[in-house]
Amino acid sequence: MNGMNDKFLIKGLGGRKTLCGSIVVGGAKNAALKLMAASVLFRDEIVLGNVPDIEDVKKMASLLEFLGARVRTKNKHTYALAFGRGLGTDLSSDISKQMRASIVLVGPLLARFGRVSFPHPGGCVIGERPIDLFLEGFKKMGAVVRMRRGTYTLRVPQRKLYGATIFLKNQSVTATETFMMAGVLARGETVIKNASLEPEIVELAGFLTAGGARISGAGTPTIRIKGGALLSARGKMHRVCPDRIEAGSFLIFGALCAKELEIKKCNPAHIESLIEALRASGVKMEVRKTSIKVFGGSHRAVDIKTHEYPGFPTDLQAPMTVFLTQARGESLVFETIFDGRLNYVESLEAFGADITVMDPHRIIVRGPTVLHGKVVESPDLRAGLAFLIAAIVAKGRSVIHNVHNIDRGYEKVEDRLKGIGVDIVRIPDGSN
Ligand code: EPZ
Repeated sequence: MNGMNDKFLIKGLGGRKTLCGSIVVGGAKNAALKLMAASVLFRDEIVLGNVPDIEDVKKMASLLEFLGARVRTKNKHTYALAFGRGLGTDLSSDISKQMRASIVLVGPLLARFGRVSFPHPGGCVIGERPIDLFLEGFKKMGAVVRMRRGTYTLRVPQRKLYGATIFLKNQSVTATETFMMAGVLARGETVIKNASLEPEIVELAGFLTAGGARISGAGTPTIRIKGGALLSARGKMHRVCPDRIEAGSFLIFGALCAKELEIKKCNPAHIESLIEALRASGVKMEVRKTSIKVFGGSHRAVDIKTHEYPGFPTDLQAPMTVFLTQARGESLVFETIFDGRLNYVESLEAFGADITVMDPHRIIVRGPTVLHGKVVESPDLRAGLAFLIAAIVAKGRSVIHNVHNIDRGYEKVEDRLKGIGVDIVRIPDGSN
């Protein structure tokens, strides 16, 4: 069991590219969490395979259990979830406060039970995480919204949501997912315009459609959902797609630290923007259908601008910045999605990175620089992994505290890294 205050001790490679072997990518966190939430829309048990064994999945399972769902784990990667009649609709547990993904439950609960209450959701500390799009959309579908002492309560006076046309003023992944799920049980047609295009949305739509939902256009900016009855999984298992952010992080890591690294069980088609950026920087890769071989070498600067899918993912921005500290020349990194997603830069500078902060959204990275081992805290999931990569590149020893932030999204990352030759040890909570 991983503790809240575990830390990693890492002995860096000092810039040598000596690692060799292969690393296997797990199931996608941000797909698995939404598929688990979709259990609310089914009249029978759903079975999910290739679910990553990570903290956020355990939290989502506990939240569903708190609502009254029956959660069975057939093995640590296979979950069976059943959501019976008339269960809880109060999401005000501590778990919701810690996990942004809890917000996706609002749509299916409201659609099935006509009411839901929830606190302002938590998640990573990466800037303002508003929910205005959610509230506006559910109002359009016929919900009445009340906010008292930090808790939102949404009720549907006529019990069933109406289908509505919802234009998302910002493309939002979780808003697209929650409205798509709400539309499945709404009266009439729901149209989501300026919808997000992420592969996790296409996967969720496919899963719902296999259960009997009528959804078209997932993966395009306009998604149409014809409302109907509860869905049925009929005992079929659904396997979660590979995690594209994990695959991308390992690819960056391989380019920096490996002589030759094969990233297995991934879907390269989901990380084309990263592959293109790395190619432009001179990284040598062999891209196959479900694996990528990456070879270490010397690299040149390349500008990065984060963008909604299929653009460069904000979730890979921090690991990519570490990569750019080792590339020759000046790179501009422009974070366009979240306000606080460059907050980790100061700690990266402590490793020795040469970075100029232009404004809260733009930095200039100069490379190559020699990084030196440091003691740092993992501020959030993706920046935590970036520090892990920086520590492996660096000369000397590093300590990464708050490893629970990394455990939220990456299953046993240290074991997988050890397997290819990284000198990394987890020091459990309470040890010196
Ligand atoms: C999802 O967050 C992911 N989380 C994030 O992954 C990911 O970084 C993000 O999408 C972008 O790809 C989950 O899937 C659980 P958004 P989400 O709503 O849906 C604005 C990780 O590390 N917005 O697409 O919360 C918002 O401020 C995490 O795994 C509104 O203005 O992100 C942002 O600028 C971190 N009003 C933009 O939309 C709203 O009501 C996109 O955010 C909602 C969002």
